[in-house]
Amino acid sequence: MKRSEKEIAEIKELHLIAFGESEGPMVSELAANLLADPKTISIDVVRDGKRVGNILFSPLTLVDHPDKKCYLLAPIGVLPEYQGDRIGKELIEEGVKQLGAMGVDAIFVLGYPKYYGSRGFAPTWVLPPFHDTLTRIDAWKMREIKSGSMAEVGGKSIVSDAMMKPMYWDTTRRD
Ligand SMILES: CC(C)(COP(=O)(O)OP(=O)(O)OC[C@H]1O[C@@H](n2cnc3c(N)ncnc32)[C@H](O)[C@@H]1OP(=O)(O)O)[C@@H](O)C(=O)NCCC(=O)NCCS
Repeated sequence: MKRSEKEIAEIKELHLIAFGESEGPMVSELAANLLADPKTISIDVVRDGKRVGNILFSPLTLVDHPDKKCYLLAPIGVLPEYQGDRIGKELIEEGVKQLGAMGVDAIFVLGYPKYYGSRGFAPTWVLPPFHDTLTRIDAWKMREIKSGSMAEVGGKSIVSDAMMKPMYWDTTRRD
């Protein structure tokens, strides 16, 4: 799904504000790069006539299981004044619905262990890209969409060019 230049600029701004001063610039740049790829799925939540939340999903390939159709959730952002009002949940569930309709097997995420644990994500045998720098193993999680499809599936994974950069996977920076 290709977004217009105006939409890309607006979504970039949303993530800049949602992620704040330290992470905002890096995440908003990533969002813009992902949105330039037509394979990226982008979903918004609109409140009071404005976009207040956005989530992006980009393809993730399993090296040993290329038949599996998987996506990476990154980033997800909600404007500060709208956080805690189930908008994050709405974005994830709408993503699951849309990806499920596309026949996707599973979604992966690297993020707050507690938050995603409460949103249906669980530990996985699949390794994230640049897994050597993953010091918080519980931050890497999977949510199966097609029931039973990911049983006994593991091994290395590869993501889109925009995401395939060590800096996005280095959790030592957040220790
Ligand atoms: C994380 C984020 C997307 C969640 O969206 P949201 O609309 O605020 O979240 P929801 O309303 O769906 O869920 C709220 C629940 O998540 C919890 N939660 C929110 N942020 C959390 C965090 N960082 N760690 C653990 N739990 C968190 C809340 O305590 C609340 O718990 P409850 O369901 O028990 O009441 C949003 O807070 C955000 O944009 N944050 C800044 C950007 C960011 O950090 N993105 C995610 C990076 S992994």
